[in-house]
Amino acid sequence: MPNHQDLISKMTLSEKIQLCSGANLWETKAFNELGVPAMFMCDGPHGLRKMTAADSGDGLGMSSSAASTCFPTAVAAASAWDVGLLREMGAALGEEALQEGVNMILGPGVNMKRNPLCGRNFEYYSEDPYLAGKLAAAWITGVQSLGMGTSLKHFAANNQENRRMSADSLVDERALREYYLPAFETAVKEARPTSVMCAYNKVNGTYCSNNAWLLDEILRKDWGFDGAVVSDWGAANDRIEGFKAGMDLEMPSSKGYFDEEVKKAVESGKLDEALIDRSVERILTLLERTKPEGEETSRKKAVLSDMYDRHDALARKIAAAGAVLLKNEDNILPLPKNAAVTVIGALAEKPRYQGSGSSGVTPYRLANLLDGLKEYAAGVTYREGYRLADEPDAALLAEAVAAAKDAKTVILSLGLTEIRESEGFDRETMSLPGNQLELLEAVSKVNPNVILVLAGGSPFEMPFLDDEKNAVKAVLHMQLAGQAGGPACADLLFGAISPSGKLAETWPMRYDDVVSAGYYDNPAKQADYRESVFVGYRYFDIAGKPVRFPFGFGLSYTTFAYSGLNVEHTGGYGYKARLTITNTGKTAGAEAAQLYVAAKTGGAYRPAQELKAFAKAYLAPGESKEMEFILDKRSFAVWDTGKKDWTVENGDYELRVGASSRDIRLTQALTLDGEPPKRRDCAAWYYKPQGAPAKADFVTVYGQYPDYIPPKKGSYDMSNSISEMKESSLLARIIYSAMEKSIAKGNGGKADYDNVQFKMLMQLSGDSPLAVLRLFSPEMMSDKFTRFLLDSANGHFFRGLGAFIKK
Ligand code: BGC
Repeated sequence: MPNHQDLISKMTLSEKIQLCSGANLWETKAFNELGVPAMFMCDGPHGLRKMTAADSGDGLGMSSSAASTCFPTAVAAASAWDVGLLREMGAALGEEALQEGVNMILGPGVNMKRNPLCGRNFEYYSEDPYLAGKLAAAWITGVQSLGMGTSLKHFAANNQENRRMSADSLVDERALREYYLPAFETAVKEARPTSVMCAYNKVNGTYCSNNAWLLDEILRKDWGFDGAVVSDWGAANDRIEGFKAGMDLEMPSSKGYFDEEVKKAVESGKLDEALIDRSVERILTLLERTKPEGEETSRKKAVLSDMYDRHDALARKIAAAGAVLLKNEDNILPLPKNAAVTVIGALAEKPRYQGSGSSGVTPYRLANLLDGLKEYAAGVTYREGYRLADEPDAALLAEAVAAAKDAKTVILSLGLTEIRESEGFDRETMSLPGNQLELLEAVSKVNPNVILVLAGGSPFEMPFLDDEKNAVKAVLHMQLAGQAGGPACADLLFGAISPSGKLAETWPMRYDDVVSAGYYDNPAKQADYRESVFVGYRYFDIAGKPVRFPFGFGLSYTTFAYSGLNVEHTGGYGYKARLTITNTGKTAGAEAAQLYVAAKTGGAYRPAQELKAFAKAYLAPGESKEMEFILDKRSFAVWDTGKKDWTVENGDYELRVGASSRDIRLTQALTLDGEPPKRRDCAAWYYKPQGAPAKADFVTVYGQYPDYIPPKKGSYDMSNSISEMKESSLLARIIYSAMEKSIAKGNGGKADYDNVQFKMLMQLSGDSPLAVLRLFSPEMMSDKFTRFLLDSANGHFFRGLGAFIKK
């Protein structure tokens, strides 16, 4: 490509503006005469969802895509706690992108799992920013090692799906800096992603796509990000403000919607042309960084004939490494070689291996648990047991119970069904479907040796484990394990591989124990993050609450000993901690050791402990390995909101090395010389978190903020959605039902809210602010018609109609 400055000087203002908005759903615009190529993007984090223009007929990019390897989803991959595996997965995705002519993959997603009901948690790594950041950096490094691009998403504080298009995340600065942003920060600093995707929502009053504080101050100035910022699909709602904030590329195409407005703004001096040039320069750099060329590329392309076989094997390896053994009473697992098995549960046959929404890929291959078991078992008896739709079926139940009665052990396959977690809307409950619980109860009555195999992308309640004499002897959680999850599960059940995954998020006893349970799903478009930094184990530990399974927990078929913690001071706040892990059992296995830092300075409020390092060792029986953990200033620091900088407080700290957040094996005390500890003058809750903080508590750490006033007739504007206007406008109701009909058309003709795709698209369309909706459907939502709708919703139907029909 010619020199960027030369190019920019040759481009007209209109061309420059056009380059900053997509050509269609997945591509940037090419300017062939200038030598500027198009760039092709596709989702996603666990497999390519490559769509052609023809595939994208629904206009929203949700129809089917070309087949590709479906790797385990982020939740499953993260539980492997293995940066090497994430790098391999990234490189494999990069390889597929290279083959498919995809320049940039839209991932990884590193939003924090603030609440287990967030519908999209399966697509995110962890409730811990350190873990998520390291894994994301490894994945990005893998993808980019092949010259392909990545888009780190969704920046920032996009932690819910309900109202994700417009909710305002009110987060105090410490929570942002210490909890919600560090995963992005680590990935940016360590892996230099080619782009960052800004989220739909607002943060502290400003849409992420117009948020100069986030995009310019923090991302670029503080962290040194040197790539381009891309909008989430439809997140750009004010292009002029976007240019000012540093939002470079609007995706998808808004069909020239903003172009004229931006041009006029430049011509009238409202927008400095230099800001457009700045974005053009970043996009040109992005095009270059995502276009592998030359001999090396041809060589790589030439040797890929066995690519899908290799990737299937890798998908299987990652699925096994990320599966978590949660219970194994009487060492009922692994099963004896060549045992005949009885398998009950529809998910064993029709697996849930990925989540719904933009990350869903068409798997190149798909093997279920039954296929996997055939590799090991002498015989497999299978009964469906329940319907995937949560409806009772007495015949299926009776058949399953009869089979369970005759079996020595039962492998019971349960989990969250598709409609229970998806992008686009949040989960309604944290429980398993009722018909599955009914089956579990019935099977448990006739067979005392139940091995539960679970699928799902987020935690669910397991009250049945409370009864000490329950029949569930083992629980193996496969999560959403990708196309080879079935065989990987069989590898584990029969002991070809010992489980080594550990939970990357806490499993609460019940939803009500979650700190934000009472205010998370706020119908107002204001999400107050009252709990500040106390999310997940950061809350449960300090509140002393029992949990079902702690963060970092996972069992193995073997045992590990931790010994010889030795901490060396390397200068400043630098420390090197070494310890030895020994496999003390009889089978090969792997152990992810975790290092937490507990600050005891009595200054700023903080969690009881925070993860600051981890490593995984693969060990033969009897084998020992030394692990090394490097700590630096950030391992001990808190964000000082006054100084606007990181600070280490004077006083005592403890390094805690363990097998999980609640299984600490070795500790070492440290005294650090830092700034005098500052106790914060705020509500007592933050020093002694118990139950939910009140809004009045939150104000003491966040500051005052205006009460949310729901919009009503007379006050609607472009930031409101059709769903909000429905109550007071007949026209909005008509549009809503037209949307229902049109979305139903692509979904077999039925407006079915139990259909995950339909529900998601309805939520997306219904909840999008008008400013965004008109971008999705510029034909229907013309400027004139949008004005008419607003007038009518505001009680001026005839005035609006008059203006609408006037030539
Ligand atoms: C999602 C993104 C995704 C994009 C393109 C959006 O709705 O939030 O994660 O990359 O669509 O499919």
